[in-house]
Parts: sequence; structure tokens; C-alpha cells
Amino acid sequence: MAGRIPQAFIDELVARADIVEIIDARVPLKKAGREYKACCPFHDEKTPSFTVSPGKQFYHCFGCGAHGTALGFLMEFDHLDFVEAVEELAARYGLEVPREGGAPAPDDAARARSEAAYAMLQSACDLYRRWLKEHPQSQPAKEYLKGRGMSGRTAHAFALGFAPPGWDNLLGELGGSDEARRALEDAGLLAGSEDGRRRYDRFRNRIMFPIRDRRGRVVGFGARTLGDDTPKYLNSPDTPVFHKGRELYGLDRVARLRERLAAIVVVEGYMDVVMLAEHAIPYACATLGTAATPEQMERLFRAGADVVFCFDGDTAGRRAAWRALENALPFMRDGRSARFMFLPEGEDPDSFVRAQGAAAFEAQMARAPTLTEFLFEQLRERADTRSAEGQARLKEEARPLIERLPDGTLKTLATRRLADLIGLSLDRTEDALGLRRPGARATRASAGGTRAAPGVASPARRAVTLLLHHPELAEAAGDVKDIALLDTPGAGLLAELVEFLKNRPHLTTAGLVEHFRDHPQGRALMRLAGGDPPPAGEALDTELRDCLERVRREPAEARFQELRQRVRDGSASAAEQREYAALAQARGAAPG
Ligand code: UTP
Ligand code: MN
Repeated sequence: MAGRIPQAFIDELVARADIVEIIDARVPLKKAGREYKACCPFHDEKTPSFTVSPGKQFYHCFGCGAHGTALGFLMEFDHLDFVEAVEELAARYGLEVPREGGAPAPDDAARARSEAAYAMLQSACDLYRRWLKEHPQSQPAKEYLKGRGMSGRTAHAFALGFAPPGWDNLLGELGGSDEARRALEDAGLLAGSEDGRRRYDRFRNRIMFPIRDRRGRVVGFGARTLGDDTPKYLNSPDTPVFHKGRELYGLDRVARLRERLAAIVVVEGYMDVVMLAEHAIPYACATLGTAATPEQMERLFRAGADVVFCFDGDTAGRRAAWRALENALPFMRDGRSARFMFLPEGEDPDSFVRAQGAAAFEAQMARAPTLTEFLFEQLRERADTRSAEGQARLKEEARPLIERLPDGTLKTLATRRLADLIGLSLDRTEDALGLRRPGARATRASAGGTRAAPGVASPARRAVTLLLHHPELAEAAGDVKDIALLDTPGAGLLAELVEFLKNRPHLTTAGLVEHFRDHPQGRALMRLAGGDPPPAGEALDTELRDCLERVRREPAEARFQELRQRVRDGSASAAEQREYAALAQARGAAPG
């Protein structure tokens, strides 16, 4: 396990990177005034609305709203996770990525050892392929694949192979030295007695499905028997280079498809992925015999925003779908969708496309219920919503699930749906679910925002926006220690931004949002940075100072309004009446 990457390194990397150069290498950009433009790589369009600002080191699409920094672009466009994007960028500038304390970066010896394992896995993959074509005993394997309706072209595309019967075909061919045997071992290709004295080929007389990681490197195998012996599929064990819960079979190919995908389909079997591709459905991948883990969810939604989970129509399939739903919930950010597709009982995707064709499969996909639909369909089966007890039960069952959804449209939709079912208003349902914790308003509105009327930004939000687009304004902010102590929404964040920027007068927008990426308000900051910049030049420093003054006055103002309400409806205590009179006088307003 490698330690955390120090934030200082990320700051430095972002400062050094040039977003124009990085994007231009992938999507050719045209200069347009102070910015650069292109047709957006994240949605279909004919006129360019994808804009890259060298000053802010930020990109933004006015068509689909996509936005981010150079790191964010690498994550979206190359389907990398954050650490991978940092590594990619660092490699470009010839920098070694440092790690914080404790667990150090893998040392040279460990790295050399995994390199050897990767190389061995690739050699084994090549050899299994050759054996499928030309081993004297491969005839039954070829016939088996043909019998299942697979063409040579598809077998080739997935690099399918054959491990012949016998204990030491692979060992004999690839295990010529001590180092080679150690690499075979590290690659998970051997099995046998624990003491290591009798080691032999793990895979014998099986069809070999190489499993690749995101970068397309072979990391393990799934191996199907030709007959009825068990297990039907034998998989590589977890090794330093292979973790079952992390990989998805076929996802590397899906991620490389450059056409815009309607969705990514997740199925259960190796054979399903391959046979869907045979039938011109190239966008399927499979978990490796388990429900999708959070790690796999993250990868899936990184590869595509719409994911369809496909299951058998039987009870086991429904149960598996429910597990997938529970695991998908935390990943359902705005802009993503998950659907749950059920095949007729007794069918899997392979048998279904073979019998009914790709169009029927895609039609079934299009009808698949969304996450909310499937969620409530299942919940209603568990509780009778006509009775008060049933409604209470439904609410209790729904609460932990809705809680796992990140704040956003889907959470609101699901809450509204629940409100309809149990006959309460949305506000009361939110209260009943405990979704309106004190302070929740601040996180649900955007960074630093009170829930102001649309178009009317709170002073904190306006100040945050000004700073995001013009970080150099922080110089004009003066001392904000008093603002840091306020508990009005957005005040803390505002003070943090100012403090951070004070010692960094040359920081770009990108540098700022990357520094706050893991901050609870990081996503909101990213979104604000993508929005229309405030008009430049117009004495923005004065405006910032004015916003800060209004932020300072907000608590007193809120207290004043609260007291005025109580005085008016007669619920104010004597002390409150005195306080109100004093405040009113200070404001120079007549009481009443
Ligand atoms: P299934 O038993 O549904 O088989 O296993 P399948 O994919 O339809 O295979 P075919 O069509 O008979 O060839 C689904 C998945 O579960 C895992 C594998 O990942 C398999 O693709 N599995 C199944 C195992 O890992 N081991 C097994 O013994 C069986
Ligand atoms: Mn099958």
C-alpha cells in the first residue's frame, strides 16, 4: 500500500501543468481571443462550446456543463482515477510522485518483481493463444467455442486461448530459470503443494479468458472447463498484480471505444461479454463472479455515466440486483444513471442474444427500470403502503438507502417519490428521514450559499465566486479571522479560501480548486469555477470587500429578523424585547 500523495506535490504539479498543451494533445484546440475552443469531447455537438482558459487553467463546456482542471480532464477523458491522473501528469514532467510517511512507494525490487509478473502473464497469454490454434489436443476446445456460436474473429479479439491437458506444459515452456519460475508463481499461474516442492500448471485442459486491467495489461485469467468438471470456471488467485474485486472483465475494451456509448452493460459471465461482442454489442463487461464492489462501481462510472446492470429474471437474479443497487447508491452523483435489467427466467445475456438477437437485447435495455424505479418497486413489495404501519415501515426501510445517495437531484427525486408513497409533504419527509440536519441547507445549496432566491447570490457565495475566478483578489480581502468564526453558511469556507490564497498570489483557479478537491465543499467549488466568470475589471476588489462586510453583518441581521418576528407575534420574552429594541436602535430603524 502506497501512502498518500502530499498535497504540496499536487499543488506544485498543477502549477506546472499547462492545460492547453494537455488537452490539445487529445482534442485539437483553436485559439479564440484569450481562450481556446473545440467541439466538446464529452457530448455531441457541431459548433464548439468547449472552452479552455489558459489564465484559469480550467476547461468548461457551455453545452453540457463539463468542467475541471488538467487533472480532471485526464480523469474524464482517459478514464483515470485521481492517483493515476497525478501519476500521468507527473510522468509527463519527469517527476517522481512522492508518498507520505509510513508505507513507502514500492521499492525497485518490488517493482521489478511485478514487472516480471506482468511480462509472464503476457507470455502465458500468447502461448495459450498459440495452443488454441495449433496444439495437437486443441480440437475439442475449438469445437466447443464454435459450438457456442463464437467466430474466430471474436476469439481473436478477446485473445482467448487454450491450456492443454497435462501438468507442466506452461512450466516446461516458460519456467526455464529460477527467476522465470518465481514470475510464474507471482503471476498466479502455478498450483500444488503448500511447501512449494510439487508445483504444477494451475490451468489444465481449459479455455483461457485473459483478464486485463484498465491499461490493457493481462493481470489474470478466467478458465472454463470443456466438460462438466468443477469448478466450471477456475480463476486466477489474487496476486500482487490481480485483485478480483477491482477488475471488470472486458472494461478495458469498453473504455477504449471512442464512439459515444448509450450505456455500459454489466453482466455476470465471461462468456456473456464475449458473445454480446460477437453480436455487435461491444459495450459489455462483467464482474468476476461477485456483486460489483465499490471499487468496481467507481471504475464503471468513470468509464461511462450510464450503467445498466443485467441479471437473470429469477429470485437469485433479483437478489443480486438488490446488492448491486445498494453498492451503486453512493456513486449516484448528478449526471450519472444506473438501471437494472432482467432477462426472462433461465436466460443469460449469451443465450438471449443468440436466440433473439442484438436488437431485442437493446430493446430490453431501453425498458430497464431506473435505480429509483427498481428501488421503490422492491420496497413496495415489502410493505403495504395503504396502511399507516406499512407507510412507517416503508419509511424506515427507505431511510438508510436514501441516506447513502450523495446530495443531488436523484436524492431529491427519491425523497419526493417516498413522500408521495407515504402521503407526506416533501419537507416533512425530509425531516422524517433526518435529511435536514442543522447546516444541511448550506451543503445542499452551493458553496457558501444560503438558500437564496434563484439569481440572488448570498454575499458569501458571491465572494467565493469572485475569488475562484480572480484568486489575486485575496490581497484586497484584509483580515478575515473574524469571518472564520461565524457560523453562517459559507463563512468558514470563504475565510479558508482567503487565508490559503494570501501566501500564494500567483495561484490559478485550477490550483485553487485542486487544493480543495477533497474538501467537503470541493465539488461545489469546482462547479462555481466552471460557471460564468464575474465581469472583469469593474473594481472587483471593492465588490469583494463589500461582500465581506455583508457576510460580517449577516448574523446580526438574522438575529434581528428573528427577534422582529417574535415581537410581532407576541412570543418574545422581556429580555428579547429589550435586545430587539437595542438592535433596532443601532440600525437606526424604528421598532415595529
Ligand atoms: P455462470 O455459472 O452463470 O456461468 O457463472 P456462465 O457465465 O453462464 O458460463 P457458461 O455460459 O456456462 O460458459 C457466471 C460467472 O460466475 C463466475 C464466472 O465469473 C462466471 O463467468 N463463476 C462461475 C466462477 O468464477 N466459478 C464458477 O465455477 C462458476
Ligand atoms: Mn452462460
